[in-house]
Amino acid sequence: MANIGYITMTMALVLAFYAAFVSVMGAQRRISELVVSSRNAAFAVTALITSAVFILEYLLITGDYQTEYVYEVSNRAAPLFYRVTALWGGQSGSLLFWSWLLSLMTALAIAKKWNSMRLMMPYMIAVTQITVAFFLWLVVFNANPFAQLAFVPPDGAGLNPLLRHFGMAIHPPMLYMGFVSFVVPYAFAMAALITHQTSDVWTRTTRRWTLTAWLFLSMGLLLGMWWAYDVLGWGGYWGWDPVENASLIPWLVATPFLHSVIMQENRGMLKRWNMALIILTFCLVVEGTFLTRSGVLSSVHSFSQSPIGPLFLGFIFIMFVSSLYLFVSRWNELDSDNELDGLVSRESLFLLNNLIFLSLAIVVWWGTHYPLFSEALVGKKIIVGPPFFEQTTAPLWGVIILMMGVVPVVTWRRTSLKRMGQTLLLPAIVLVITMAVLTFVVGLKIWGAVVGFGLCAFALTTILLEYGRGVSVRHRKGESYPVALWTLIGLNRRRYGGYLIHLGTILVAIGIIGSRFYQVETQHNLAVGESMTIRSDFSGTYTLTYNGLREGNSPDDRIITEAVVNVTHNGQAVGELIPTREYFVVQEQPMTIPAKRSTLLDDLYVILAGWEGQGETATFKAFINPLINWLWIGSFVFIIGTLVAAWPTAQDSRERVSAPLGVVVK
Ligand code: HEM
Repeated sequence: MANIGYITMTMALVLAFYAAFVSVMGAQRRISELVVSSRNAAFAVTALITSAVFILEYLLITGDYQTEYVYEVSNRAAPLFYRVTALWGGQSGSLLFWSWLLSLMTALAIAKKWNSMRLMMPYMIAVTQITVAFFLWLVVFNANPFAQLAFVPPDGAGLNPLLRHFGMAIHPPMLYMGFVSFVVPYAFAMAALITHQTSDVWTRTTRRWTLTAWLFLSMGLLLGMWWAYDVLGWGGYWGWDPVENASLIPWLVATPFLHSVIMQENRGMLKRWNMALIILTFCLVVEGTFLTRSGVLSSVHSFSQSPIGPLFLGFIFIMFVSSLYLFVSRWNELDSDNELDGLVSRESLFLLNNLIFLSLAIVVWWGTHYPLFSEALVGKKIIVGPPFFEQTTAPLWGVIILMMGVVPVVTWRRTSLKRMGQTLLLPAIVLVITMAVLTFVVGLKIWGAVVGFGLCAFALTTILLEYGRGVSVRHRKGESYPVALWTLIGLNRRRYGGYLIHLGTILVAIGIIGSRFYQVETQHNLAVGESMTIRSDFSGTYTLTYNGLREGNSPDDRIITEAVVNVTHNGQAVGELIPTREYFVVQEQPMTIPAKRSTLLDDLYVILAGWEGQGETATFKAFINPLINWLWIGSFVFIIGTLVAAWPTAQDSRERVSAPLGVVVK
């Protein structure tokens, strides 16, 4: 079976090269049969990689431990779910998985856009198939998931226990889907340059792809945060780890791209900028994969040092230089159709939005790569810690929240300052009142946090007022409030979906400000019957009483130790928490499972850090994370908002039909 898997991957590699080559030849020589053949080859590549993935899944599920990859990431005791998800639990499997998702997405894009984007299609096929071929090259020659051991081990080594979590099982697929989907808008952008179709056709055609890719990337980031919070047991969710940053950086470039394409579509501006951003996003996506797969930066996620690093760098270099060449050679065609009319306008806010996001991307990129530069220059790996990232990015995030508050009242071309002042008066009053209440009534002393909460209140008010205005206009025309809200959103999904995303982002910001600035932490060693207390400005005092330890074995070779802790909040009993330690016998690795009491105001987060004897005494680490659940609630709103914005409209269908038919292929 393993040999068949390997042969299938090799055939897919050959066909991907073939598809890339004949698509360009067909377009250049105007031989439609060749372009059709390249399309069919691209579909066949997808079918072959799908077969390879199914074969690897079969080997994982049936426990074929002579296959080295299966031995490394799976074992007999692993439940079926984790045997299946072990496909992306190690390096070579995850590279095959990456290639598979990439080929699926490109096949889908080719099938969907075949009729409407005929002129660009051959070049789009070429770019996507070159990318597929690169990843297949890695799995065929450098990280073969079907490689065989010289002997048959009785059992596998098993999946890293830290990866046995639902969040971690679905976080990589989401992230990879986000990464691979960005290849589609990039490929269309390159095809637009090659075919001199530099108007907004490529941005309009790929808008929903880009939004979907962005949604997957966002969900990947959010699921990663949830996993870190739920599993790693350090009380936080974002450690500015290089692997986390590797996914955040493309997100920080893709987000301004989503906004600046709106400028290109509405005003014919920022054409060069959009090209530059999508090229950068693609290169950063591949670089992100390089950082995580090559082991070049050590972190909990990086698998191991491997020889694939130079290949990745070579691929990024080739793609970057050829994109740059095309970009520069079409420079004049990418001229703006319009100039900036007024300084106070939506256009200038979009420009500022772009500059701030890009500054964030540069700061995070620099901090993430600093250990590499320092090692190359002075021979020492100097790690840049969270304080660098937090201090440099916090003010920029503050400006972004402020702008999200201002943008609903700013119109295209120019806005009257007087009207803007009148509309923003109420939100400004809310801002001042929020800051005053937090300072003088609640007693918060960290001014950065107070300003942050004030800005969030300001932006929330403008967005809610924007919704309120739209709904009341429709209500006055006779619609009930729910119907008015529904039709308002339905008639302008991009706008109101966008504002819903902003609303979700602000709720996420509230969760981050509360939990980052006001987290409290304590650690105590308790004998059975003893208590410890922990207090926060937000929610008062929790008392934890240790009631003993219980131990048991699970069928999948885990020794489970649970501590029973009774909790009171401000003197009222609120229940029992069970912080747990699991010991994975095969991997000889312990894992901490925190216990949580969650409310809208805070999380009480308790970890069993250790114990003596049969549990006569035990050590507990407790955290209060104020407002953290707004982060998860905001994430949910954010996802709904993106679905609203990305949902197809009647206009999307019309645009599909009216896209230019350069007609090379049948
Ligand atoms: C983390 C911060 C932000 C995120 C995640 C975000 C995300 C988004 C997304 C995904 C859309 C929908 C785009 C589409 O449907 O094509 C959108 C729409 C929009 N965004 Fe943002 N955005 C952020 C910040 C900002 C800022 C700072 C501005 C200020 C210039 C802004 C202005 C807008 C506008 C005006 C729209 C609606 C466009 C329309 O009416 O068609 N966004 N945003």
